[in-house]
Formats: sequence, C-alpha cells, structure tokens
Amino acid sequence: MGRITGSCAYRARVLHLVADPAVAGDSAAQYFDDGVLWVENGVVRAVGPAESLLPLGAGVAVHEFPNHLILPGFVDTHLHYPQTEMIASYGEQLLNWLETYTFPTETRFRDADHARRIAELFLKELLRNGTTTALVFCTVHPQSVDAFFEAAKALGLCMIAGKVLMDRNAPTDLLDTAESGYEQSRLLLERWHGVDRLRYAVTPRFAPTSTPEQMSLAARLLREYPGVYLQTHLAENLGEVEWVRELFPAARHYLDVYDQFGLLGERSVFAHGIHLCEDEYQRLAQSGSSVAHCATSNLFLGSGLIDLDRLRAHDVRVGLGTDVGAGTSFSMFRTMDEAYKIQQLRGSRLDPLQALHLATLGGAEALRLGERIGNLQPGKDADFSILDLEATPLLAFRLKQCRSVRELLFVLSTLGDDRLVQATYALGRCVHNR
Ligand code: GUN
Ligand code: ZN
Repeated sequence: MGRITGSCAYRARVLHLVADPAVAGDSAAQYFDDGVLWVENGVVRAVGPAESLLPLGAGVAVHEFPNHLILPGFVDTHLHYPQTEMIASYGEQLLNWLETYTFPTETRFRDADHARRIAELFLKELLRNGTTTALVFCTVHPQSVDAFFEAAKALGLCMIAGKVLMDRNAPTDLLDTAESGYEQSRLLLERWHGVDRLRYAVTPRFAPTSTPEQMSLAARLLREYPGVYLQTHLAENLGEVEWVRELFPAARHYLDVYDQFGLLGERSVFAHGIHLCEDEYQRLAQSGSSVAHCATSNLFLGSGLIDLDRLRAHDVRVGLGTDVGAGTSFSMFRTMDEAYKIQQLRGSRLDPLQALHLATLGGAEALRLGERIGNLQPGKDADFSILDLEATPLLAFRLKQCRSVRELLFVLSTLGDDRLVQATYALGRCVHNR
C-alpha cells in the first residue's frame, strides 16, 4: 500500500517535539490548542494554529476532532513479534524465561502460515496503540521475516526487522550455523532492505547464543551492505552478564564482545543496557550506537533499573522499546509510565517532555530516521495518531484539571493506554480506526 494522493486536514489539539527538550528546554515542544495538521500526498504539508491556517481552500476536507489530540506516530525501538502469544508469562527472570517460554514459542515459526497470522495480529496491535514504526526481532526462520515484511508492506509502514542469528546455546530446532545464518540474512536483506519503507536489521540474538564465527559474519554483512541495521541485547540481567564473562574471557566487558567483532555503529541498537561500566557508556557514545530502554520488560523480568541520566550525560542516543513479550504492553503510554517509575526508584526524574521525546523524535533519531519521521514538521511522512481525550471517565475528569502541556502529557502517560487511540495514520492513510 503506497502513499495516498490528495490533500486533507485534521483539526484538533496538536503536540509534537521539534528538538530534544533536554537540550532545547520547553521550546522543543510545539503545541496548538486549536491546531491543524494538513496532509498532502502522504506527507505533512503544514502544521499550526487553526486561526492562521484556515481556510485551506476549495477541495481540502477538514476533519474536525474536538477534544482530541494529534501526536506523531510512536517509534518502538525494540520488540519481538513472535513473542506476542507468550506475553504475560509468569515467574522467571531472563535466562529461565527464555528456556521455559520463549524458545518453545519461537519454534512454531517454522510454519509460514503461523508466522503470517501472528505478524498481522502484531501489526494490528501496534497500530491500535498508535505505534507506526518499530525495530523488530523475527525468529531464526527466514519465513518469519518474509511474513513480517509482507504484512508491514501491505500497510505502508516504516519498519525495520531481521532474522535471528543463533548457532549455539538454544534448542536444536532454533539453531542455524554461522554460514547458513549469514547466507539466509544476505538473501533476506537483498529481498527486503529498501523496499518501500522497509529496512533490514542483522540480528544476532545476544552474545551467549552466537559463536565468534557467527558474530564475525554478522559484521561482514554490515560491511558489505552499508545502511543495514544491527540489533541485539546488551547487559540486561546480572546472570546474563556473568555468562558472557565466562564465554568471552578475553573481552573487557559485555559491549566489548560486540565491539571486537565490529558490531558497533550508527545503525546499531542495543536493547536494555542496564548493567554497564564507564567504558561501555563511552564506547556506546563514541561509536554512535543507540540504546533501547525497555521499561515494562525490565520490571517484569526483574532485570534492573537503567541509569538514563548517565546515558544522557554521555550523549548516548536512547529510544523506548516495549520489548514484547518480556514487556507487558504494546502501549508506549504504559512504557513511558513505567520508565518514569524506574527513575523514581533510582531517586531521579523523567520529565514528561523527555519521555515523549524518547517515544517519538528521540526514538526516530536512535534509528537514524529523524529526517523522515518522529514529528509533524512539513515534509515528513504523515505518520500520526489521534487520541480521544475523553477515552475514560477518569481521563476526561483528570485532564480538565491540567494547567500545562507538561501536565497533560504526564497524565496521558500515567493513565493512558490503547483506549486513548481513536485512529492511526501511516503516510496519511488511516490504518486503524477504533
Ligand atoms: N535476551 C536474549 N533474547 C532475549 C529476548 O527474547 N528477550 C529479552 N528481553 N532479552 C533477551
Ligand atoms: Zn528483546
């Protein structure tokens, strides 16, 4: 499905960020109490106050949404589509959780029909939550990647995904080899990278499940195909960190394992990054790598409390990830809420504008997609959602008390979930309508 041609506009409250609030302060936010978003041929033509933009001229329909708020589409920088059916699995921390729930679930994706069913359900769920771009793990099976990209292409979405690479320490059914993983990834990225709005990510699951040979070949793909991404996990759980130390005794720390193979860089996204040393913060920043902060997952698996202040102090790019199925919600509102609570437990604060930045423009920049998505500036792809500010009686009641944009946003992230999302648009086309 491509972009739609023609011109139309949406009148509602409008909020987006044009810079990082940690740098630009409150001027990073553009808010229009009575705003208009004008979309033409799938991109934003203009955004601003109704009183200065209207009337738009003959032939441009203006859809009115009183007591609604338009936000840019959310950017989810880390999650696993095959884990949709095992979200909310009880009782384990990372390594046992993988063995008990994750690996058996992922085995089912050898069946292409199953993969297609789950991919469609997964994308529907993202759109129901106002998320229009994501960086996604598939499984080790190439057909799981085809199923995902076919479904994303049909919806006209901007999505990044890849085949999991795993050649040790997992059930035999889920293993590839260094060579077959390389070859399958190469064929998939030749097929999908750059098709419409789709991008490929080379996807070694994490250091314990790839041999040095597999990681060398993953790095070779990055060298051979500049522009493809790398996604993996980093320093999520203390048992995992210890295991990596045993498996790679020559590495100085966890990140150094990936670094030695040449896997860091501007299109590399490391999920979690909780248990890091000073040198790891510095190498993440120097290499231009990004971290995906997965708040609901970190609490659910009891993984730990990320130091967002230290990542920011080192100028590491950070986005938010739901990390479904270790994460407990597809909603970026739920994720922002838990991210706030994690900083509370650290004795720190996550400002509501900063949280929105992580979920939109900051996430887009972490994925090096800030030129196309992340906010509603003219010329960008028209990916956005329309939120119903009266979605629940409590929201309607509490929002009436709000005196500032920051407060409005904090209430939305504290009380909000999929019920807020009235409609979602990708390239100006409605892809979800409640
Ligand atoms: N580390 C390695 N694989 C996974 C996974 O599937 N989920 C999470 N949360 N961490 C991982
Ligand atoms: Zn993950």
